[in-house]
Formats: sequence, structure tokens, C-alpha cells
Amino acid sequence: MNQLNTLALAHRFLREEVRPGAFCIDATAGRGRDTALLCRLAGEAGRVLALDIQEEAVAATRALLAREGLHNARVVRDSHAHLADYAAPETVDAIVFNLGWLPGGDHDIRTTGATTIPALEQSLGLLRPGGVLSLCVYCGGASGYGERDAVLAWLETVDPARYTVLVSRFVNRTGDPPIPVFIWKD
Ligand SMILES: C[S@@+](CC[C@H](N)C(=O)[O-])C[C@H]1O[C@@H](n2cnc3c(N)ncnc32)[C@H](O)[C@@H]1O
Repeated sequence: MNQLNTLALAHRFLREEVRPGAFCIDATAGRGRDTALLCRLAGEAGRVLALDIQEEAVAATRALLAREGLHNARVVRDSHAHLADYAAPETVDAIVFNLGWLPGGDHDIRTTGATTIPALEQSLGLLRPGGVLSLCVYCGGASGYGERDAVLAWLETVDPARYTVLVSRFVNRTGDPPIPVFIWKD
């Protein structure tokens, strides 16, 4: 099958949008692949904040960044429900959410609508005008459909005068392919 998946699309989007010197947030650090990409795109003049609730994820992300010689990130063990504690309003250039569980980790420790929605709400306020948000939404399996449904319903409520929200769908793939979502703040 064609390798164009949700993660690859998100990375294409970020490569297009994130410039050197950017301030970026990875709201779900996991094993650090998105954080590492943001670090490279923001460069030495930029900075990246990465959050995850699991110590295993924080350690894995720090280890990946160290292996790749990337030194412009701060990796913190905390919930993205507290995102607004980490940045001033309208100062962030790009925010990334890759929902679900830690790859290779415990499927019972995963994102849920109860914290994802407040984190997304805070994210919109943190983005500077021109800033972007990338979101990968997983469903099915251990994730079920509750978080997906809550997120998709919430996205439809986002103010169209200030944000452009694009929800994509792989219509000819079987199962529950992850859903790529992209937001631009005007
Ligand atoms: C699919 S993984 C992220 C993958 C990651 N971006 C990467 O590049 O490897 C989802 C992560 O979200 C984390 N997570 C779950 N709930 C969270 C929360 N409330 N705040 C921050 N991270 C959370 C999980 O611990 C897990 O590591």
C-alpha cells in the first residue's frame, strides 16, 4: 500500500508551515518522533516544548533527541490539560497532537476526550495569528470511538472567523485509518 499515512501527512504539513526560529509544542511527546521533527524545523533559533504524562515517553523522547543531537527542546512530564501554563497567549507557531497510546506501551494509558478537548481549546488561544495545529485522531481498537467523536464534534464548533479547520478522511482504506486534521489561525 502507498505509504502516505496520517503521520506522513502531518509531517508534510509541518515541513511546509514551520520556519526556523519557531516556538512549537508537541502535546503528546510519545517516543519523540514529532518532537524531533519540530526541533529540526525550528532550528537552533527556535524552541520546542514537549509534554507527555508518562515517564517512559519523556525518557524515550529525551533519548531520541540526545541521539539525534537536538538540544532545543524542553521535555516535561505533564498533561496537555495544563498547556496554558507553559506559553503566553498568541505566542506559539505550531502545536502537534498525535492522539492514542505510547507506541509499544500500555494501551490503557492513552489520550481521552476529557483532556484532549480542553487541551485543544487552550491550544487555539496559544497559537499566534498565522500559527498552525496538526492533529492525528486514532479510533477503533482500545481507543474506541468516544474520543474521535468528541474531537470531531468539537472541531465543528471552532470559530470560522478566526480559524480554518480541515478534517481529512481516507475513504478507500479498510478498518479505522487515523484521521488527519489541520488547523490554521487567521
Ligand atoms: C500516539 S502517542 C504520541 C506519539 C509521538 N508523538 C511520537 O512521535 O512518538 C500518544 C502519547 O500521548 C500521551 N498522552 C496521553 N494522555 C496525555 C495527556 N493528557 N497529556 C499529554 N500526553 C498524553 C501518551 O502517554 C502517549 O505517549
